[in-house]
Amino acid sequence: MHKKLKTAYRSEMALGKRLFSEGKFKEAFHHFERAHVLGQFYVIPHARTHIWMLALGIRTGNAREILGQIIRIPLGLIGSALGKVPLGNTGGANVKLSSKMPIPEDLKAYLEPDAGD
Ligand SMILES: [Fe+2]
Repeated sequence: MHKKLKTAYRSEMALGKRLFSEGKFKEAFHHFERAHVLGQFYVIPHARTHIWMLALGIRTGNAREILGQIIRIPLGLIGSALGKVPLGNTGGANVKLSSKMPIPEDLKAYLEPDAGD
């Protein structure tokens, strides 16, 4: 993970965690989704987004999210390890596991191969 991507990923995760701690779960989820888009190519960052989505599902009592994340954590690990992830997928149980999705405009630059260090 190059430096700019890592910084953007960490920023989205930090925002998500802060909002989670403030009880702003919808907003927190949005930032975990954005972190997922950025981090899904890498095993640990990818797993981390799904673990936080699982935590959010548990905290909000959302059975669909809990089950969805229990499935996505191991599959995500395998997908990242094999380099097979659906570009732009936001990672929540509200979207199909394998669906490619449009990348938000402001995140595109971080996913360019030559986005640099
Ligand atoms: Fe994922």
